[in-house]
Amino acid sequence: MIFESVSTGGCRSYLVGCEESCAAVLVDPELSQIDRYIALSARHGLRFHYLIDTHTHADHFSATRELAHRLEVPVVMHRSSPAPFVDLRLEGGELLVVGRLRLQSLHTPGHTPDSMCLWVEDRLFTGDTLLIGATGRTDLPGGDAEALYETLFHGVLKLDPALKVFPAHEYKGRSHSTIGQELAELKTSIENHRTELIVLDVRERDAYEAGHISGAMHLPRGQLELRVNEDLKDPTRRILVCCEFGRISTLATATLRAMGFQRAVALDGGMKAWREAGNAVTDGREPQ
Ligand SMILES: [Fe+2]
Repeated sequence: MIFESVSTGGCRSYLVGCEESCAAVLVDPELSQIDRYIALSARHGLRFHYLIDTHTHADHFSATRELAHRLEVPVVMHRSSPAPFVDLRLEGGELLVVGRLRLQSLHTPGHTPDSMCLWVEDRLFTGDTLLIGATGRTDLPGGDAEALYETLFHGVLKLDPALKVFPAHEYKGRSHSTIGQELAELKTSIENHRTELIVLDVRERDAYEAGHISGAMHLPRGQLELRVNEDLKDPTRRILVCCEFGRISTLATATLRAMGFQRAVALDGGMKAWREAGNAVTDGREPQ
């Protein structure tokens, strides 16, 4: 396999070619690099067969349309792409034949609904679905954090841990990662976020000691204003406020937000809903 990676600022595009047949594809080509792609293909004696966008790019200018026009090569995207100029629309699981190479598409919605990854031999082109040490944004048009979670934890991250990850963005100059490294990194960051969250139980002591969320801090509603500066020193922390039914915690959350704890939220339905959902509770006091 002939392989070239082209960096432009934080964007990455890839040239993948078959040595035997001299057929090649471009993955996520960028408009400012057109001459470079053409020079690379000439240097290796390759001819482009497909121009692939892993998704609708909101943050860089794709060269697929311009190159398709210049070289008369078809543009490939996922079936759900809204772009009118796409010539070949892939379903998840479909193969793109490039000489002796087989590029398999995986539909990976989340960053955008039309995101796909492409798998060839020991590499996975992840577009903006999975970056090195990060995931693609889900706050741009079409982004869906739940879909991305599903895509990653029930799809991409279950692939062979040795598979090399080549994303469409990389800002620190690393060439690639692996599925195994990304899985480990994501697990660590989820664990860290968990410990960042403060669970604040605002019920009276007897209710708290009868059963609370493990690790919850106890601060009764009646003492909130008095003790808040002492007990909650960092107003940037995420705080989950809980009471028995979810009503007092809603008021306590409003108080906390008014005091500058903008990331405070109330536990919907309170501890009653928590227990009814079958979640675990701890009794007694928490170690200080
Ligand atoms: Fe993107």
